[in-house]
Amino acid sequence: MRRFGLTLAVCLALALTGACGDNGKDSQAVKGPDPARGRRLYIATCIVCHNTDPSKPGSQGPAIKGSSLELLEAKVLHKRYPPGYEPQRTTKAMPTYPQLRKRIADIAAYLAQP
Ligand code: HEC
Repeated sequence: MRRFGLTLAVCLALALTGACGDNGKDSQAVKGPDPARGRRLYIATCIVCHNTDPSKPGSQGPAIKGSSLELLEAKVLHKRYPPGYEPQRTTKAMPTYPQLRKRIADIAAYLAQP
């Protein structure tokens, strides 16, 4: 049940950013990865555990600034790491966020910003 509560909370947070339910129409017609949208999703979903400043460690998760699209897809969607990637931690505490499937590139674009 705890997991459900968390999922619900995340979903509510995402609904606020318009990401849940995937209405397919974003108000801004940005083509390709959108770092601003990625930032909103990061704030809504990730900072429960990661730092508001992704270059610093958070309450539970490590610093993830500059994470590649490949790493983000593997970790956020499948709880895995890309082949040959050396994880910062050996724990497996982070849940998956399948609802972000189409938005990982936005988060990668945000985390790639200087
Ligand atoms: C419930 C807490 C929690 C949330 C929410 C969370 N993470 Fe994590 N994350 C962790 C923890 C803890 C780790 C360390 C590995 C593990 O235990 O799974 C981690 C590891 C990672 C890693 C691997 C870093 C590395 O180089 O080894 C990435 C990438 C990552 N998180 C991205 C994200 C993104 C993007 C989000 C938001 C969509 C997110 N995380 C949300 C807890 C969380």
